Amino acid sequence: MINPFTLSGKTILVTGASSGIGKQTAILVSRAGATVCTTGRDAERLQETFDQLEGNSHRMMIADLIVEAQMDALVEELPALNGIVHCAGMVNPWPVKFILQEHIDRIFAINYHAPVNLTGKLLRKKKVLNHASLLFLSTIATRNPYVGGALYSGAKAALEAYAKTLALELVNKGIRANCLLPGLVDTPMIAFPSGEALQEEALERYTKRYPLGVGQPEDVAGAILYFLSDASKWVTGTTLILGGE
Ligand SMILES: NC(=O)c1ccc[n+]([C@@H]2O[C@H](COP(=O)([O-])OP(=O)(O)OC[C@H]3O[C@@H](n4cnc5c(N)ncnc54)[C@H](OP(=O)(O)O)[C@@H]3O)[C@@H](O)[C@H]2O)c1
Repeated sequence: MINPFTLSGKTILVTGASSGIGKQTAILVSRAGATVCTTGRDAERLQETFDQLEGNSHRMMIADLIVEAQMDALVEELPALNGIVHCAGMVNPWPVKFILQEHIDRIFAINYHAPVNLTGKLLRKKKVLNHASLLFLSTIATRNPYVGGALYSGAKAALEAYAKTLALELVNKGIRANCLLPGLVDTPMIAFPSGEALQEEALERYTKRYPLGVGQPEDVAGAILYFLSDASKWVTGTTLILGGE
């Protein structure tokens, strides 16, 4: 039987593969038959992801994507790619009154500069194959603001605008670029600074806000699989909202 969602024969880079959505994406993508290049900063957690990948020939590369030399080393080491999933990101709330230049730099460095620079470097090194699929993790907060989210939503909104332009510029090579905009997903990103998961009471509040409840990493990974596969070969320059609000 033909499986339009197979990733067999494809090589996919997943950033942020040491945690949350990126981790689940790397695992699912390997189960769909792809060779996965995983990257993250935390060696121990990246190894945990790596150990759960199905099949052989996967790669694991430690890199801090806000350090240019480490990004360059990653780009050198990577093979030619059929797909890239930019999951690496961070959130930190600041009420607008207290935003300083250093906060802007910190939030934009990983959420905007890193995926934009990594994409540019990979394109210049000819490591993005024709008909590749490029995916960027934005957030539903670019549509529905929340208190303290000005910088995070701003960086992600800029990323969405970038991805649309990228889709336009690369369409002649059949390369596609799309953005995913998840609502709240239960990952370490939304844990309390103590590392504790969201409390029952907070989860209940959010569950009321999202018609289908709080998302799980596999809910996002499933959508990513669609965008990486040939099932979406006619889809570019789009944004997909996940979870509703
Ligand atoms: N969770 C949500 O509710 C939600 C909703 C909408 C959108 N998103 C977006 O989805 C993406 C994944 O989020 P998540 O919830 O899976 O977060 P997460 O569990 O906190 O994972 C974040 C990942 O980003 C990596 N990362 C952070 N800074 C990095 C840097 N300087 N260099 C390289 N890697 C770096 C982390 O690597 P290490 O751990 O190895 O340092 C980690 O693998 C993010 O872009 C986020 O903005 C999340």
